[in-house]
Amino acid sequence: MDEPVSKRFHVTTFGCQMNEHDSERMKGMLGTLGYRESATREDADLILFNTCSIREAADNRFIAHLGEAKRLKAESPGTVVGVGGCWAQSVKDEVFERFPFVDVAFGPGQIHKLAEFIASDAITAQGFFEFEEFAGHLPTQRDREFQAWLQISQGCNCVCSYCIVPSTRGRERSRPAGELLAEVQTLAADGVREVTLLGQNVNSYGRDLRGEDRLSFAELLRAIDAIDGIERIRYTSPHPKDIREDVVAAHAECPAVCEHIHLPLQSGSSRILKAMRRTYNRQRYMDRVAMIRERVPDVALTTDIIVGFPGETEADFEETLEVVDEVGYDGAFTFVFSPRRGTLAAELEGALPHPVKKERMARLVELVQRRAKERSQRFVGRDVEVLVEGPSRTDPTRLRGRSRHNKAVNFEGTARPGELVEVEVSSASSQTLLGAERLLSRTG
Ligand code: SAH
Ligand code: SF4
Ligand code: F3S
Repeated sequence: MDEPVSKRFHVTTFGCQMNEHDSERMKGMLGTLGYRESATREDADLILFNTCSIREAADNRFIAHLGEAKRLKAESPGTVVGVGGCWAQSVKDEVFERFPFVDVAFGPGQIHKLAEFIASDAITAQGFFEFEEFAGHLPTQRDREFQAWLQISQGCNCVCSYCIVPSTRGRERSRPAGELLAEVQTLAADGVREVTLLGQNVNSYGRDLRGEDRLSFAELLRAIDAIDGIERIRYTSPHPKDIREDVVAAHAECPAVCEHIHLPLQSGSSRILKAMRRTYNRQRYMDRVAMIRERVPDVALTTDIIVGFPGETEADFEETLEVVDEVGYDGAFTFVFSPRRGTLAAELEGALPHPVKKERMARLVELVQRRAKERSQRFVGRDVEVLVEGPSRTDPTRLRGRSRHNKAVNFEGTARPGELVEVEVSSASSQTLLGAERLLSRTG
């Protein structure tokens, strides 16, 4: 039988933007090896999973998908199955014991090994779990030509007691500033208008660097702001302890730095924050919020909150509700505590019964939504700048994009993807603004 002209791969990505970006690198790298992307797993010669392990639900979702890969491989034994990312890193070689049909497994610092494995025609299963280098130099296949991610650091030096990430992504390492700025120059020349800086704790960036390659996070924001063509800069995730005056000043002064700060709270109770090892208490967090609001009054603040941490009392939880009410977030990701292997919190006593967690979650979500909706009303009647992404998912006669405050905007208009337009907002729900494009306002 003739060999197919080119082999095909299929990647399923779980987890955070860091993983999305790593998958872009995998795709780019496979492209240079002559592979094409396949729309379905059935048609793929190489089935890849880029996994997440942040909560138990993430593990379960992935393992359900893996069952399909097993079936496809049984039907077509030449198929190669690869598992990368944080789940793979957290179980290491146990991958092959639990799932013997997996051919290659690799951690987040080992993406380049995938190419080596494929090029070598290896016949035995192999695992790669030592962090070696950044994927920054690997080619990328971007989903949108006008938006790009920029990985500025890898790993995390924090010790949040609930979190598996330090063990899956290792100690924090920053990429040299010169290399990052060169990458942004290239992206800008390539038509990118919005970059999102990625790291587990982006604003501790640079502390491990020396000499001319060392910039602080705030300096990095300013240096990227100065690059022609970059109109919007976002970043995720910062840690409240490291959102200092210099970073907030960059928000206030740099035209490209967006008016949105994600400020993960986790809990409003100082007692629980201590058990979480977050290194700030309720008061210090609120002081940061006040400092940010003073310098950037219209900023959108979003957050992450964990409900049902071991030992969380009704009074602790009410403190979380109070903070949510006081801050008035523009949006929040809310999670039920999930014990993760190897973390301190997984060993703590005081696990809460499921109905209690569920009931608290419902109250929290109700408050988050109500406050976010109230906050959104400030945009009604205003013009907001929107970076157009394409047709609306729910109504193809309308367009969709994002405002600088990171709200989804659905609007009537004629702009093309990648354009920046002004949209007059006519109504607002908690997460979406509705409006119409102002004609003659287009740039780009
Ligand atoms: N480095 C980032 C994001 C880490 S993961 C940061 O510090 O903000 C994203 C969110 O998942 C966390 O902010 C936290 O709210 C949630 N999370 C992490 N581990 C969790 C666990 N074991 N159970 C429930 N939620 C968790
Ligand atoms: Fe996890 Fe905390 Fe690091 Fe975020 S800062 S990745 S929550 S350890
Ligand atoms: Fe998940 Fe790893 Fe991201 S555990 S959230 S993919 S850093």
